[in-house]
Amino acid sequence: MAGRHTLTIVKPDAFGAGKAGLIIALLEKHGFVVKAARVMHLSTEQAGGFYAVHAARPFYGELVEFMSSGPCMPLLLERDDAVATLRTVIGATDPAEAAEGTVRKLYAESKGRNAIHASDSDENAAIEAAFFFAGADTI
Ligand code: CMP
Repeated sequence: MAGRHTLTIVKPDAFGAGKAGLIIALLEKHGFVVKAARVMHLSTEQAGGFYAVHAARPFYGELVEFMSSGPCMPLLLERDDAVATLRTVIGATDPAEAAEGTVRKLYAESKGRNAIHASDSDENAAIEAAFFFAGADTI
């Protein structure tokens, strides 16, 4: 059965533009409950580790540089069918292809600076939640 938790990150472009509140409000409108949150400026080592699965991709260096360029906001979210629902709500990786009303259609600039990350499977949601919130209190 699909799980009830997923991990999202309001990325440095959206956080730096003061869009975190609007994005979280949109997620809440879609039924997500924030279970844990942090504001943090990732080091290049942390950003590289988080996206290690993409290490062989041509955009990896750009991705790591961008994700460590300023503060971001990781959030642990809860809802029925959390992973699939959140991926629908955030929209396609490239905002030019994202559906109307999605986070990336509303707030992203490009495939690289695309406002938000979301886990792509229950397995990765657990790994990514542990990356940011291992040992943290959740409510
Ligand atoms: P995200 O959901 O955080 O997962 C991996 C990220 O890699 C993705 O969002 C994009 O921000 C980034 N990405 C994917 N494809 C490209 C690309 N062609 N150029 C730059 N960044 C990319």
